[in-house]
Amino acid sequence: MTTQALDEIKIGGLGASRKRVEDDRFIRGKGNYTDDVVLPGMLHMEILRSPLPHARITSIDTSKAWALPGVHLVLTGEMMATRNLAWMPTLSYDTQAVLATDKVRFQGQEVACVIADDPYIAKDACELIEVDYEPLPPIVNPWQGLEPDAPVIRDDKEGQADNVVYNWEVGDKAGTDRAFEQADVVSKLELHYPRSHPSPIECCGSVADFNRATQKLTVYMTTQAPHIIRAAVAMVAELPEQMIRIISPDIGGGFGNKVPIYPGYVCSILASILLERPVKWIEDKTGNLISTGFARDIYLKGEMALRKDGKILGFRMHTDADHGAFFADAQPSKFKIGLMHSTFAAYDIPVAHLTARGVYTNKAPGGVAYRCSFRVTEAMFFQERMMQAAADDLGLDQAAFRRMNFVRDDDFPHRTALGFLTDSGQYAKCLDVGLAAIDYDSFRKEQAEARKRGRLLGLGISTMTEPLGAGNSREYDILGIKMFDSADLKVHMTGKAILRTGAKTQGQGHETTWAQIVAHELGIPAEDVTVEEGDTDTAPFGMGTYASRSTPVAGAAVAMVSRKIRAKARKLAAHLLEVSEEDIDWELGRFYVRSAPSQGVSIQECAMAAYSNMPDGMEPGLENTAYYDPPNLTWPFAVYIVTVEVDPETGVWDVLRMVAVDDCGVRINPMIVEGQIMGGLTEAYAMASMQFITFDADGNCVGSNYMDYLLPSAWETPGYELHSEVVTPCPHHPIGAKGIGECAAVGGPAAFVNAVMDALGGTGVRNIDMPVLPDRVWEALTYRRDVAGYPPVRQD
Ligand code: CDP
Repeated sequence: MTTQALDEIKIGGLGASRKRVEDDRFIRGKGNYTDDVVLPGMLHMEILRSPLPHARITSIDTSKAWALPGVHLVLTGEMMATRNLAWMPTLSYDTQAVLATDKVRFQGQEVACVIADDPYIAKDACELIEVDYEPLPPIVNPWQGLEPDAPVIRDDKEGQADNVVYNWEVGDKAGTDRAFEQADVVSKLELHYPRSHPSPIECCGSVADFNRATQKLTVYMTTQAPHIIRAAVAMVAELPEQMIRIISPDIGGGFGNKVPIYPGYVCSILASILLERPVKWIEDKTGNLISTGFARDIYLKGEMALRKDGKILGFRMHTDADHGAFFADAQPSKFKIGLMHSTFAAYDIPVAHLTARGVYTNKAPGGVAYRCSFRVTEAMFFQERMMQAAADDLGLDQAAFRRMNFVRDDDFPHRTALGFLTDSGQYAKCLDVGLAAIDYDSFRKEQAEARKRGRLLGLGISTMTEPLGAGNSREYDILGIKMFDSADLKVHMTGKAILRTGAKTQGQGHETTWAQIVAHELGIPAEDVTVEEGDTDTAPFGMGTYASRSTPVAGAAVAMVSRKIRAKARKLAAHLLEVSEEDIDWELGRFYVRSAPSQGVSIQECAMAAYSNMPDGMEPGLENTAYYDPPNLTWPFAVYIVTVEVDPETGVWDVLRMVAVDDCGVRINPMIVEGQIMGGLTEAYAMASMQFITFDADGNCVGSNYMDYLLPSAWETPGYELHSEVVTPCPHHPIGAKGIGECAAVGGPAAFVNAVMDALGGTGVRNIDMPVLPDRVWEALTYRRDVAGYPPVRQD
């Protein structure tokens, strides 16, 4: 370790496993969440939700609710319509009902709101609202929605004659057809990635405060993207943008749930404007689970053209995404099905073709990128399930088949068949580390031995590279707003600093890691740098935090703004040292005279000079802002290997071991990175094994509570063995970092499912849909058949 590296760890720079500074206030119960915000004269809002999934509203009588003492306002869709707010635009160029006017389109849809002195009165008043519904047939999967005589769910939309949201395609159809003509073997797979829910501990909420005297609207709210919300409020409510302040205080987990704009936010804002008092809305758990933040719910079907020796010649894929009643997910405008076409990006496949269709159903809006870069979770899940099926069809070893088809280290930059440019990685090396760690060959022998005695052991591999860090702005925008990010750094005269970015931490530890980047670039100890995010009046414009874009984009902006500060500090140093700029060199935290290294000035001395002793003509102060538009996405790589034992009597499966090898380039804070991986693996395990949120034939949401929709506790969660020895710096990121936040949640599920399917090898069972519940495994084993898991759930 060099002297500089030693210094860097001491000041909490790059590579230091600094404890998370934000945890101090969380552990002491001193966090400041939206529900902690209490303002003078504040009222409370509750939402009346539809009990039916699909029904025409014939009348709404609110008179009894208005009459309840303590009620200040009852909002209905009709009232919202008088202000042109009954519908709002979504982040995907669709519209969404704020409060239902004509029809309800999913169970749990917002029908009316009551604003009262306290939440209990508001809730009671909601129950006094009388709504007459005329039920319509509910549609709970795309196939029902595509039936010729299916009711048109979005009959509010002019020209919408069916339930199709979009058709989209990418790739080379003719070339792919030719590849299939040349194939020795064609391997096929079809599966459903079920609806899942990010289910953060903190639900959504807002406190809207409109001040008539100043005309200023301040909204404290649970949002991962405050600046986008500010722009949307300005456009929808027709308020001047500079008079809107969105403050996203501490967030108790987001995972994508807190990206969309929800009716509760809009209603609390309108109520505050009408009543000229602060209005608080805090969603309850069932409200959160039934109406916000649904992810996945997609049907994936594909086939792979293969040569006998294992070379992949091409693939075709079709997806049908169940979007619920409104196409409301946030994703880059150009890509209707998110980054689904990043599928198979780790493999050198010459040609491919992907078609995607979106369908409306009677469910809450779906497609939220739950710990996922716009559908990459589904893309990578299908990829790794397909890789396993193809290797089995060819009779090849799982690891060897993957290795043979990996993009090789010297093939970068590599253009994938569906158009992405991957730029770096050491895929085979990561796989080797993983195989050695799990002791692959020994396990395969043990598995064969166990099989002879009737014990079912299995091993599942998942290897993937993931596109993280949208933009660049050329290709990525949301509602036309280009995707880049920002950092603003103010170094005070005593050498202490405050950094603000356009990202918004929700538990990822930005307050800790961004200060480490400043420490690395400037030598200011991390503890001397305060990081603030989430207040649109103070933070520079940014697109927020989701899709693991913070480190690739905002983190890069932090490095770039630090470099701008260093460039000015160099001029100050030259002035203080009375030499020309060209004669000085930099080492961590200090400029020195090249010819006389003992003569130097620290960054702190430069900071003081910026306010007290600047050269003639220099603008005072040591502050700057950087907007960073990345040249490409970052491409981390991961290998996840799981071993399981399946009980043939009950279908229960236990994880024996799980090995994770993540290459996310340079790790800013190794401890935080490990935390991100463990959290992601736990969510992956939950999706694969237990999370069940589905719908019955009547359109009822089954699983809108924690009795049915399970979150793994420490008791169920398996142990993880993490490996960090492979580091391939990102070639274009200023500090070589790649994103990591969601890799394990994206790549993990296939490893678990592949392990169970491997244990069932030889039974002819090709697929069990997630969650791979014991009864599904038992059914597959007993009847030797695939088990599909899409709604409606069976009533027996
Ligand atoms: O966008 P989000 O913060 O969810 O994801 P991320 O950019 O992957 O970062 C998650 C956390 O891991 C942040 O605190 C990062 O600074 C940290 N991280 C790191 O220390 N080193 C990396 N190479 C990537 C992320």
